Amino acid sequence: MPRQPIIHTVPQPLEPLNIEEVRFWLDIMQEHALFIKMGLPCDRTDLINEAQNFIREFDTLGNRAERVQNEKKFKELVSDAYDVVCEFHRFKRHLLRLKLTCKLAGSIFPIQYDHLAREAEYVMRLFDKMRTGRPGLKAAAKTQETSFWVRIMGEHAALMSHLIDPSERSLVSTAREFSEDFDALLLQSNDFASMLSHNENDVPSFRRFLQDVHTSTRQLRDFKRAVQEMIAQCKLVGLIPEMLADHVRREAEHFLMILAMMEKGIITCVTATEPECEVVEAIEDMEEEICSDPVIECGETVEDCEDHDEEACYEEEDCEEPQANFNIYKSPAVNMDDIEDIEGIEDDIDDDCNSPEPHKTAPVKQKPPKYKWGGKWPRPLGK
Ligand SMILES: [Fe+2]
Ligand SMILES: [Fe+2]
Repeated sequence: MPRQPIIHTVPQPLEPLNIEEVRFWLDIMQEHALFIKMGLPCDRTDLINEAQNFIREFDTLGNRAERVQNEKKFKELVSDAYDVVCEFHRFKRHLLRLKLTCKLAGSIFPIQYDHLAREAEYVMRLFDKMRTGRPGLKAAAKTQETSFWVRIMGEHAALMSHLIDPSERSLVSTAREFSEDFDALLLQSNDFASMLSHNENDVPSFRRFLQDVHTSTRQLRDFKRAVQEMIAQCKLVGLIPEMLADHVRREAEHFLMILAMMEKGIITCVTATEPECEVVEAIEDMEEEICSDPVIECGETVEDCEDHDEEACYEEEDCEEPQANFNIYKSPAVNMDDIEDIEGIEDDIDDDCNSPEPHKTAPVKQKPPKYKWGGKWPRPLGK
């Protein structure tokens, strides 16, 4: 039976960077698992345990990433990480289906599950590039990449507007304004994706649009950082954990880095040049690997699971790994001081870009050096 083509919800990611990129995304994935665990209803111990298993798995991968010193180990790590992210993506989609069919309570919005799943899909595609060594820049597409991230930023703002206490009218209003700003930017980004769909070269209006996005993202990043600081100092009431504020801030930093790559001209393609069928084949290969579940036959997409019973469709693995020491507070993987080194954007970056002090009572996990922007991009592994 012929396979149905897969409709992608995220763009082909940009050029795989280096081990720091892997560490950044492993941290992000691990935190997603923790958010899910915290947001699940207490009576769903099966799902909570599954989320905990992912926390451990990403912790183990993160520890391996700290020790990678050669290309071979790097590729092994990425390959293993890819497998775990595929499973994690499947888990998130499963939770979303439960949510949408009113079979799951808890404090996570459906769009949050969708958001988390899209980010996992992005990471899947990124790690797939890394492990197969396929060139990234040829397939990089400024318009799609911009739309992906602008949507992510807008959803962060919308989520914050819902999780800040209603009594904080000014802050809620500010978050809502950011949400509306990014909604408009997303529409414009999608328009550019359409208008430039047959263009190979950049146009001035799109470059100006990227500057607008850069400005809004920088402002949103600053807002997130301010919220994070207020939460840490117990000066803001609401339901946002400090770790979530830190998480979304670091994703904004990451998007700023990607925007800097676009503005710097490191990424030149305006739209994807890679034939879509190649991508579909790659994803189909992923699906075959994912479909180890006996209920899901290989050849079916994850979406095909909707035809099956929801609970039967996702089977958990019994994981008995030892309890990991999970420190919830992370240093940023991308430091804006490093980005300042890029010509042309120095003036855009604020001086006060140091990450805020973590909460006094929380454990702090020291991270290794951050991105280095001095030489050729992307720099060779380990250099
Ligand atoms: Fe995230
Ligand atoms: Fe996010």
